[in-house]
Amino acid sequence: MATLDCDVVVVGLGNAAQAAAASAHEAGAKVIVLEKAPEKKRGGNTWFSHGAQFRHYHNGIPDVKPLLPHVPESEWEKIDLPPYTKDDFYADIMRVTRGRSVPELAELLVNESYPTVRWMRESGIQWEILYTDAKPEGGRFRWHHGSSFIHSKDGGAGLVDMWHRILQSKGIEVRYENGAVRFITDEKNAVRGVVVQTPEGLAEIRCKGRIVAADRAGCDLIVAQGIEAGGHVRGKIGLLALLGQVLPAVRVPVVAAGGIGTGRAMAAALASGASAVRVGTRFVAAEESDAHPSYVKKLISAEAKDTVLTEAFSANWPNAPHRVLRSSLEAAQKLQGDVVGERAYAWEPNVRVPVPRFTSLVPLKTHTGEIDAMPHWAGESVEGVTKIQPARDIVRELAGEAEELLRRWSAPSGNGRRPNHP
Ligand SMILES: Cc1cc2nc3c(=O)[nH]c(=O)nc-3n(C[C@H](O)[C@H](O)[C@H](O)COP(=O)(O)OP(=O)(O)OC[C@H]3O[C@@H](n4cnc5c(N)ncnc54)[C@H](O)[C@@H]3O)c2cc1C
Ligand SMILES: Cc1cc2nc3c(=O)[nH]c(=O)nc-3n(C[C@H](O)[C@H](O)[C@H](O)COP(=O)(O)O)c2cc1C
Repeated sequence: MATLDCDVVVVGLGNAAQAAAASAHEAGAKVIVLEKAPEKKRGGNTWFSHGAQFRHYHNGIPDVKPLLPHVPESEWEKIDLPPYTKDDFYADIMRVTRGRSVPELAELLVNESYPTVRWMRESGIQWEILYTDAKPEGGRFRWHHGSSFIHSKDGGAGLVDMWHRILQSKGIEVRYENGAVRFITDEKNAVRGVVVQTPEGLAEIRCKGRIVAADRAGCDLIVAQGIEAGGHVRGKIGLLALLGQVLPAVRVPVVAAGGIGTGRAMAAALASGASAVRVGTRFVAAEESDAHPSYVKKLISAEAKDTVLTEAFSANWPNAPHRVLRSSLEAAQKLQGDVVGERAYAWEPNVRVPVPRFTSLVPLKTHTGEIDAMPHWAGESVEGVTKIQPARDIVRELAGEAEELLRRWSAPSGNGRRPNHP
């Protein structure tokens, strides 16, 4: 087995790992970074974090100015940014987690938040002002107390690229397609290295320290999403063809998603071998849903052919295909201007913020303005949306119908088995 030596081995290549590698290098360590994915898929979840917003404590403009040296004085004059103190940040964490956060970890996160974004800036990460979180008022922009003020240039993909250039400039070695398999420990159980699966076989990286900034290598289940799905769509082919590829290739349970709006479609997915189904569009019309009534009404009257796969609603999240009702795409294309309406923060219903045209946010009950021109996410399953129902009834209806059909389909022939289309 090949063996390599270094001071610090970093596992993963998302934001956490890239920052850790840069920091360890700054401290004088020889660093090796291991990334399971091939180079063209680098960046982990960080790449997908389209907003790439970084919340941190600050005392208003004097603290955020050093993060944004390219912003001219004339722009600062139009900005109102109330301070967001450590106490505010800590209280928000505890409020949204209903007190379940570990106090020591929450405190660490809060205390290090501002030094970290400053250090990232000094390391070469470029920040931008997050105007989508601002409320325009008489030619000025006001940030509501606690809303994020900065995001990384060009979102998550930009963050990954900037870190990549920084690591390259420091000469830090990144080994792609190198997945950490297990730790090497000494007689005192201290970690002394990592066993790595490389394209050439297993290798050992011996080190003095290690930073694990990666998720677990395995997973408990896989969601196979077909191209019929509503909302953001990663699928490239139809669900049944996809299940045909995925099921024989994996051992964990597979959950089928995309185009399942009826018990019949659910039964078909289960009969194909899926362990469960994941349903999106049907639940937009649940009583419990926060979707705007006009969006729900459009879903109820739509058919599968009324949906379209597009990348148009990508103002805040580029290169992310999604399926919407065609009518919402056409309405957005017809509209002039950059703003289509206003929305409220979930945590602060009285604060209104603009909704940019072609943003990916679906219209909720609190949205106002040109609702029809906001993305109406919908899968081909929209056919199954015929009325507003409690979520419980949707689940019962889907499961009941699917069970009944599966029972009927599996009955011995000659025993009332689907003469026509029951
Ligand atoms: C749509 C979306 C929007 C988001 N928006 C925001 C936002 O605005 N602000 C925010 O703070 N957060 C946001 N998040 C969350 C944020 O993306 C994650 O919290 C963050 O990216 C986690 O970073 P990470 O470095 O810990 O992990 P990741 O970025 O997931 O990196 C883990 C890396 O480890 C690699 N890996 C896994 N196992 C191994 C192994 N065995 N060996 C070697 N490598 C391995 C993976 O391939 C991956 O590259 C968003 C997430 C999503 C999906
Ligand atoms: C309104 C809406 C919101 C969605 N939000 C998410 C999300 O936040 N994360 C996610 O992984 N999938 C999301 N999806 C996709 C679903 O998880 C699922 O893959 C898809 O809805 C299945 O297709 P269907 O809509 O035809 O049922 C969303 C779908 C819709 C319709």
